[in-house]
Amino acid sequence: MPATSVPARSSDPEMDRFITDLMAKMSLDEKIGQLNLVSVGFDVTGPIVSENVDENIKRGNVGGVFNTYTPIAVRKLQELAVNSSRHKIPLIFGYDVIHGHRTIFPIPLGLSASWDLQAIERSARIAAEEATADGLNWVFSPMVDIARDARWGRIAEGAGEDPFLGSRIAEAMVQGYQLDNMKDPNTVMACVKHFALYGAAEAGRDYGTVDMSMQRMFNEFMPPYKAALDAGAGSVMTSFNEINGVPATGNRWLMTELLREQWGFDGFVVTDYTAINEMIAHGVGNESEVAALALKAGVDMDMVGELFLKELKANVERGTVTEEEINTACRRVLEAKYKLGLFEDPFRYINEERGKTAMLTKEHREAAREIARKSMVLLKNDKNTLPLKSSGSIALIGPLARNQRDLIGNWSGAGDWKQAVSVEQGIRNVMGNKVKINYAKGANLTDDAQMIRRLNAHGGELELDKRSSEAMIKEAVQAARNSDVIVAVVGESQGMSGEAASRADIGLPGQQLVLLKALKQTGKPLVIVLMNGRPLTLPWEHENANAILETWFAGTEAGNAIADVLFGSYNPSGKLTVTFPRHVGQVPIFYNAKNTGRPFNGEELNKYTSRYMDVPNEPLYPFGHGLSYTSFTYSKPKLSKASMTAGESLEVSVEVRNTGNYDGEEVVQLYVQDVVGSITRPVKELKGFQKIMLKKGESRTVTFKLTADDLKFYNNQMEYVYEPGEFKVYVGTSSSELQEAGFRLN
Ligand code: BGC
Repeated sequence: MPATSVPARSSDPEMDRFITDLMAKMSLDEKIGQLNLVSVGFDVTGPIVSENVDENIKRGNVGGVFNTYTPIAVRKLQELAVNSSRHKIPLIFGYDVIHGHRTIFPIPLGLSASWDLQAIERSARIAAEEATADGLNWVFSPMVDIARDARWGRIAEGAGEDPFLGSRIAEAMVQGYQLDNMKDPNTVMACVKHFALYGAAEAGRDYGTVDMSMQRMFNEFMPPYKAALDAGAGSVMTSFNEINGVPATGNRWLMTELLREQWGFDGFVVTDYTAINEMIAHGVGNESEVAALALKAGVDMDMVGELFLKELKANVERGTVTEEEINTACRRVLEAKYKLGLFEDPFRYINEERGKTAMLTKEHREAAREIARKSMVLLKNDKNTLPLKSSGSIALIGPLARNQRDLIGNWSGAGDWKQAVSVEQGIRNVMGNKVKINYAKGANLTDDAQMIRRLNAHGGELELDKRSSEAMIKEAVQAARNSDVIVAVVGESQGMSGEAASRADIGLPGQQLVLLKALKQTGKPLVIVLMNGRPLTLPWEHENANAILETWFAGTEAGNAIADVLFGSYNPSGKLTVTFPRHVGQVPIFYNAKNTGRPFNGEELNKYTSRYMDVPNEPLYPFGHGLSYTSFTYSKPKLSKASMTAGESLEVSVEVRNTGNYDGEEVVQLYVQDVVGSITRPVKELKGFQKIMLKKGESRTVTFKLTADDLKFYNNQMEYVYEPGEFKVYVGTSSSELQEAGFRLN
């Protein structure tokens, strides 16, 4: 058993000395107090501090606060801590800064679809600048949970289904938040969440059970957490789910053996919201027992539940927890504050001047527009329906066409939706009077009164148009008849994805499909602009629309960015990072699956193969799919050698040519298949990608380097190894449009 105490052990002896001295003066109660994270709301006058919180801060019973921001509000609480508590220990201030702070960027799933690591890092950098200008120093991001189930609402918050891409994005986010110096008053500490496997909830129902083989866990789900930590993330948040029978928040194997002993993580672990208390419902103990369980498992800070505060001391007295275990957790929390420079200056992040000038600046908004454009995925574009002509008239239809509230998406806490540019406004901004807009709402986002009540209880701002569906559709059809082309802006309300927003039916909600069908009847070209936080099932839409543009929830600059794409001043370059099923019954569906012993080979009458009787196996849109206004051709991939030995590297090169009429960006994707393994291996796995810009007519050779390390995986003995043998290499424009080559590893 490893020692549970963490004496001076870091690479910073000065920090160790400082904290050892401080802790020597702290009582057990005060040490436990550091492990307590409270949520404090606020209004214009400052934090709404209940008696209880006020007193607790003075008594040293609070280590950190979240949900409080603005320099005024944060200053008040920090003053309370450093002026009125015995040891003047500053508080750490956290917040859910998920995809921007005041300037809102596309939801994370959208950001990932840019495949543009610089752009993603930039979004995190700007978020950190704005968050610190609001007094914050800790963000509950990145969320790196791999998700393959579109029913799960929180698929919106992550980078999709692929561990390789997810890992690169996790690194970019951490770098954007922390840079290389957490003391800088413009940087924040990142918090990697939700550790672990939160995205694998059974049946896509939030908070659901996870039961998973170790191979799958380590080959397919763990890499992004590890990557974020290797990039230096300072903290980790536990997840709500259980893992193989043990809730993550009380899982010693997860948080101590894996996270600390194997991975060497030396930051601190915070629970998710009341996750310790929730272990009672999981059925692993009473209040006192779950508090002890969490601490002993490796949790350092208790978010909101206050069970550490209430139960740890009695546990020490009873001998079920040692003071050493509390010291360990306390030291880690204090180290985080030290690393943020809070002991040098508790007010370093509180700058009223920046609070006024650093938010929603012109530069930030321009970046939001640019990044939003990069996140959009052109799913279909028949006969160059898009880009639209800069003249004539468009019927702008749909419940999201004039909408602002939904554009900033879920988890946009400090974002002001009134700052968001609607699609209608965006088109006017970009086109002026050159195109005539005939607007009609056409349908409500949903007509389900119960659903609307639930969404509005959490800031949904949904307004139900009381007209009958027929009347709304009639008006929309009239607008379509009077126009050259239809742009239908349809999708979900932001609250239909995110936390506790699982859906069993993942088609367009309400009467929106009925609306689209009526519009189609007019014979006018139909362009669908989608907004949604998850893959939707769109079989009719795919068959019948002339073009489909996926825009996710694109943030503050959504409307401008969408207009840029619709009218061609930006050529779309996004690619899906998650598979779009044809039917919800195919879920979970993902590209890097295993083969079966009876793969379906297209022989219709051959019954005994792995397939559905009623829908094809293939998704509607595969991982990596995304069109452009131009076209790209690929040469066959060339390998620098036919075989390599470990220690060598091999180059894969391919010539990509822009053969269309627009300049454009392309995401060149490299996949590898390990043909024979000691355990079965996925049919393909992403191992590299490059986003390149090609002018029309231009071509470029894109080269990837592979080494034996890229071919490693966890085998049945949980050893991370490569295995000699035959490998296939695929290069192309999506996971299903690839050209093949092969090599041997000796
Ligand atoms: C969510 C976390 C979030 C936390 C704090 C929880 O409900 O699962 O992602 O960071 O609340 O707001």
